[in-house]
Amino acid sequence: MAAEVAPPPPPKPDPAYVVAAKTRKKIPFWAMATLSLLPVWAFFYLLAVSPQEREATGPMAIGEGVYGACASCHGAAGQGGAGRVLHEGEVLKTFPHIEDMLNYVYTGSQPFVSEGLAVYGDPAREGGAHAPLSYNGNAMPSQGETWGGGLTNYEILGVVCHERYAIGGADPKSEQWAAEYATWCSEDSEIFAALQSGAVNFDTLAETFSMLETPPRDIGTQPRASK
Ligand code: HEC
Repeated sequence: MAAEVAPPPPPKPDPAYVVAAKTRKKIPFWAMATLSLLPVWAFFYLLAVSPQEREATGPMAIGEGVYGACASCHGAAGQGGAGRVLHEGEVLKTFPHIEDMLNYVYTGSQPFVSEGLAVYGDPAREGGAHAPLSYNGNAMPSQGETWGGGLTNYEILGVVCHERYAIGGADPKSEQWAAEYATWCSEDSEIFAALQSGAVNFDTLAETFSMLETPPRDIGTQPRASK
């Protein structure tokens, strides 16, 4: 009798941990595509949560912010109120040169009165020269630190740029104003940058920039007649 061939032994059952591994849900193939995008997502996430580096810069942007403190008296559009009318060319008539306006906003009315100056701005102003305290007797508050004001030199330049170009009606592209705008109020104004860095101030600016094609006039921090 032929010996019966012994049936092969039943396969050993997998140990429990192998069973678990074989039956565990796999990461679906499409997830790999999604996971590979993680670094890209992380990049944009960090970009979004990192602080805004492009803050408002340049004289016009700074000046628009500063003007909020002037608007209560001069009106949001420069139409006037407790303070003089600035819009529709009015402020440009008073200050044909930006340097004189910077000086005036720095000092305000009171130092002009103390100094016995009868007029601020252009003495030959179209429509009449402006005397200090001649607008219902109200004073323009001093803005520069010599006179107790809270604005820095570059903030004063910014707000003056805003009042001339955004409110006063000077057209930066016109023949009359293009050079002034480029020198003082454009985003790449070197004068603004130098004031902002503290390299110059209203007393030293004219000398430092005397090499410019249209050299700036003196500004100063004391009340003075317009030049
Ligand atoms: C409390 C009210 C008040 C505030 C605030 C004020 N001003 Fe004035 N401003 C006046 C008055 C009043 C005059 C006229 C002063 C005078 O007659 O002596 C004036 C005059 C001026 C003039 C001259 C206008 C001209 O044609 O004669 C300029 C420029 C000016 N202010 C700019 C500013 C700026 C810039 C600010 C903000 C940083 C500001 N003012 C904030 C009241 C104010």
